[in-house]
Amino acid sequence: MKRDILKTLQAEHDHLRSLFADMDETTERAKKGRAELLTEIELGLIPHAKWEELYLYPAFKERADREGLKTHAEAVQEHRAVELTVLPDLKTKPVDSTEFAGSAKVLGEFVDHHATEEEKTMFKMARKLFSAEELAAFDEQYEEWKSSPEAAKEFKNAASQPAPVAVG
Ligand SMILES: [Fe+2]
Ligand SMILES: [Fe+2]
Repeated sequence: MKRDILKTLQAEHDHLRSLFADMDETTERAKKGRAELLTEIELGLIPHAKWEELYLYPAFKERADREGLKTHAEAVQEHRAVELTVLPDLKTKPVDSTEFAGSAKVLGEFVDHHATEEEKTMFKMARKLFSAEELAAFDEQYEEWKSSPEAAKEFKNAASQPAPVAVG
């Protein structure tokens, strides 16, 4: 079977959804568990979103019709909101607080909304705009990119704002 970037991204969405579900089950006593889950969420979220922004979204935008352009603009704004507000806000909350639990829930709901929108709208359009060969090539490029210095740099920039909450 051919590789398919849209399936890879969808599987990563599902992985993120399950991490947020695990997070939602934790209590204020699970300091270490919450900190580890937050790290895993960042590892799952940041490279995924950055690659979409750098490669998939621009390619999609080039071929999109008006509806597609609107979908593209909406997705870009949702990424910005998560990167600039929702995720940094969560990281200012001490992991053993109910504020952390509430903010993590908001991030999870935001990510689920965005991922569902991608799956139901953007990816559906992308399946018509790109050939199976192109989707397979994207998938290979994404895998290589994830272990590249560029990906590491993008992760460092996004994950270090603000400084992670110290965990005792
Ligand atoms: Fe996205
Ligand atoms: Fe995505």
